[in-house]
Parts: sequence; structure tokens; C-alpha cells
Amino acid sequence: MLFQKSKHTLFVFLFALAGAVQAQAVKLPNVTILATGGTIAGTGATSTTTVGYTAATVGVQALIQAVPEITKVANVSGEQVFQIASENMSNEHWLTLAKRVNVLLSQPNVDGIVITHGTDTLEETAYFLNLVVKSRKPVVVVGSMRPSTALSADGPINLYNAVQLAGSQAAVGRGVLVAMNDQIHAARDVTKSNTTTADTFRTAELGMVGYLQGGKPFFYRDVTRKHTVETEFDVSKLDVLPQVDVAYAYANVGDVAVKALVAAGAKGLVHAGVGNGSLPAKTKPALVAAREKGVVIVRSARVGQGIVARNGEANDDQLDFVVSDTLSPQKARILLMLALTKTSDTKDIQRMFYTY
Ligand code: SIN
Repeated sequence: MLFQKSKHTLFVFLFALAGAVQAQAVKLPNVTILATGGTIAGTGATSTTTVGYTAATVGVQALIQAVPEITKVANVSGEQVFQIASENMSNEHWLTLAKRVNVLLSQPNVDGIVITHGTDTLEETAYFLNLVVKSRKPVVVVGSMRPSTALSADGPINLYNAVQLAGSQAAVGRGVLVAMNDQIHAARDVTKSNTTTADTFRTAELGMVGYLQGGKPFFYRDVTRKHTVETEFDVSKLDVLPQVDVAYAYANVGDVAVKALVAAGAKGLVHAGVGNGSLPAKTKPALVAAREKGVVIVRSARVGQGIVARNGEANDDQLDFVVSDTLSPQKARILLMLALTKTSDTKDIQRMFYTY
């Protein structure tokens, strides 16, 4: 009798254990999708309309419903944060988005975040978030090059991949990631490289960090520059960012743009120089005058790859200029804005450009 009872107890125990193991096996991560618009939420007149469509028309619930497979890999919830084409993304949008991301990630029931975004400024939003998100949990920015109505639309597979990535343990602590075209890129280094093709996102020389294959991320590299919880930037109490603009160099350029930007109130200027960040003779005096007025000048390059050498094409020590390291002009603008929220000391700002 006693034997029978303990056999029964053992059976109940094993049954419960099997149930617990099974429940563990199917425990899905909780991923929040924050939708901001872009082509991934765009619609065209016909299935062959891949240019001349309207971006930012489909809502977040429709985006999720279009990929029912997502519900097998994560518990997803969606929020429509904005509904814009990303050429209209502003500093204020970024602050709103970053604050929402930080609130969500501070909740124990959120494991990761996906942000759907237009591709035109996707790399900028990703880098901004990379500097101000205060969590090690995955944040993945995703878009598409073809609208949702197009033949072979890339939005659904990109969204599916992004959700997998945002819910994965392998993505924890890697900073903000961009998932496009089965590839994983680090926010700092990725850029849109082609106006229209689906393989437009590239981290040309430094290289992407991994692939998405069969619904799983595979990582091969790590970012070495500090990000997220390791940065000194805090946007929780900010409603505006300092005005920083970019002046672009080209043959025959003068000083009109630099003077106009300074007159319009720029606190910082990124000069997108030619070659190794060279300063055309007709532009340099305006930059020097701007610096004398207290505007912080960052020397960057329009080339797209490589380090802008400090004291290379200009005597930065003497001019009291900062160099952008490998950041593109549009990303140097973001770091300079955030740097100016902390200090106007150019040595300290240069340190930040070599840190982030
Ligand atoms: C946009 O950036 O909002 C439009 C272009 C795109 O998403 O590909």
C-alpha cells in the first residue's frame, strides 16, 4: 500500500516536472514593437510600385498582423509612436522615442524592443539611441526598401528577423542593432549605401556584426566603442538638443553655408570636408571665426570610410577643432549635440569622439 502511494507521488512529481520543462521550453520573450512610419509602413498604387509610393500609411497592428509567424517566436505588443517618413525625423522625435524606449526597457516584462523606421535616416536614429538607451536589453531598428504592397516586399521578413533578434539572449549587451536583409549591423558604423536596392545597408570596411539565418542570430564581431549603459549621456530630462548643423565641402565651395548656419544659431558645426577632412581655403576663415565665437567645430569627411586624422589636414590643436574619428558627418552631428549637453570643452569633446 505504502509502495503504491509513493509510486503515485513519484508519478505526479515526474508529470509536473515534465510540464514545467515544457512550459520553460515554450516561454517566449516579450518584445515591444514601436512603429515610427517609413517604407515598411508604406503603400503603393500597384504591386509593382516600388518608387513613388507613400511612406508611413500602415499602422503598427496591421504590420504585426501581416506577419503571423512572429507570434510563434515572441509575445509581441505594438505602439504607434509616430507615423512619418524618416526624412522628417527630428531631434524632438528622437527624445520622445528614447524616453519611451528607456521606460519600456526598465520594465521586467519587456525583454527587447523593435523600432520600425524609414530607411533614409534609420542609421541616425539607431546611433542616437545607441548613445542614450540605458539598458543592456536588445534594441533593434528595422525598415524596408519596398512598401508593404510591393511584390517581394522585404518588410515582413525584416520585421520577423528583427523580432527574433530583439528577443534573443545573444543580442543582449551589444548596443543598438540594425536588422536588414538578413544582416545585423552595429548602429555606430552602418550606413544606407544605395538609394533603392534591398541590400542598401552596409558597414562597408568595418563589417557587419552578424547574420540572421533560419530565425536565429549568428554573431561574428563585437562593437568596441562604448554604448548604451556605458555612456555619459542622459536625455531623461531634456526637451531640446543644442543646435548642430553640417556644412558640406565640394570644389568651389565658399563660406556662405558656414556663415549662415552660425548666424542661425548653431552651437556646433560639423564640417564634411573633402578627403581626410580638408578645409577649403575659402571656408576655413569662417570656421575659425565661428570657433572664436564659441561654436564647436568638428572636422569630418564626406568620403564615407576612414579616420579623420587629428592634426592631419589642419592643425586642430592650434585651431581648437575636434576631429570626428570614423563617424560620418550625420553621426558626428548626433555625438556633438549630445556632447554639448555635457560640456563645451573641446578636449573633453574630442575624448568623446574617440570613446563612442
Ligand atoms: C523613409 O525613410 O521614411 C522613406 C524611405 C524608406 O523607408 O525606405
